[in-house]
Amino acid sequence: MLTLFFYPSITCLSDAAENWQLGFQDPATPIMEGIINLHHDLMFFICVVSIFVSWMLGRTLWHFECKQNPVPSTLAHGTLIEMIWTITPAFILLVIAIPSFSLLYAMDEVISPAITVKTLGHQWYWSYEYSDYINEDDESIAFDSYMIPEEDLELGQLRLLEVDNHMVVPVNTHIRVIVSAADVLHSWAVPSLGVKCDAIPGRLNQTSLFIKREGLYYGQCSEICGINHGFMPIVVEAVSLPNYVTWISNKLSE
Ligand code: CUA
Repeated sequence: MLTLFFYPSITCLSDAAENWQLGFQDPATPIMEGIINLHHDLMFFICVVSIFVSWMLGRTLWHFECKQNPVPSTLAHGTLIEMIWTITPAFILLVIAIPSFSLLYAMDEVISPAITVKTLGHQWYWSYEYSDYINEDDESIAFDSYMIPEEDLELGQLRLLEVDNHMVVPVNTHIRVIVSAADVLHSWAVPSLGVKCDAIPGRLNQTSLFIKREGLYYGQCSEICGINHGFMPIVVEAVSLPNYVTWISNKLSE
């Protein structure tokens, strides 16, 4: 996003991890926008609380230093101050909880999805199934998605993030992603889409996507799943609806 700010003519959004990155990747779904906004809201409370606590700690250390205060007070407790330091944090937590819960429930909601994609974690790759469509031979679309090894990378491709088969989905469409695993725990996570969903053997988890712009979104398995845990990335390719339909019909006739 910084790039956009300094060079308005260049539209360069960050949808993959960058070196020494501290901030978020750029959001592509309303959910990720909500997560970033909540983070900024919480940052305000974090700053106020940590400044106040540090100031109080500093004052306490200063006033209780033996040379400063040779005859200490014998005061052991005070009802009013104890009420204040119990109620104030409780009130702050309550204020934080309201936007936090509304976001949590928004993330959980799957609104009548137009498309369902099933993704399965394997040791060590992802596979995708599009069971909404079948061809003349009653076959649906299913494929594996492996990381491209370093020696096979082409110029401009991202190391440890590129895969051979992307998960292709249309933009501006409610998509349901069903997540499971074939062997051990994995986790299907794409930062720009604000999605991190555990893939558990024998259990179906579901999450939803509503991608607002076309692009390639990079993610990685986010649950330690064995020796190649770091080598099973995720690439979601968001395309326009006509391009998606073309992709689906090509896949069906393969
Ligand atoms: Cu699959 Cu970690």
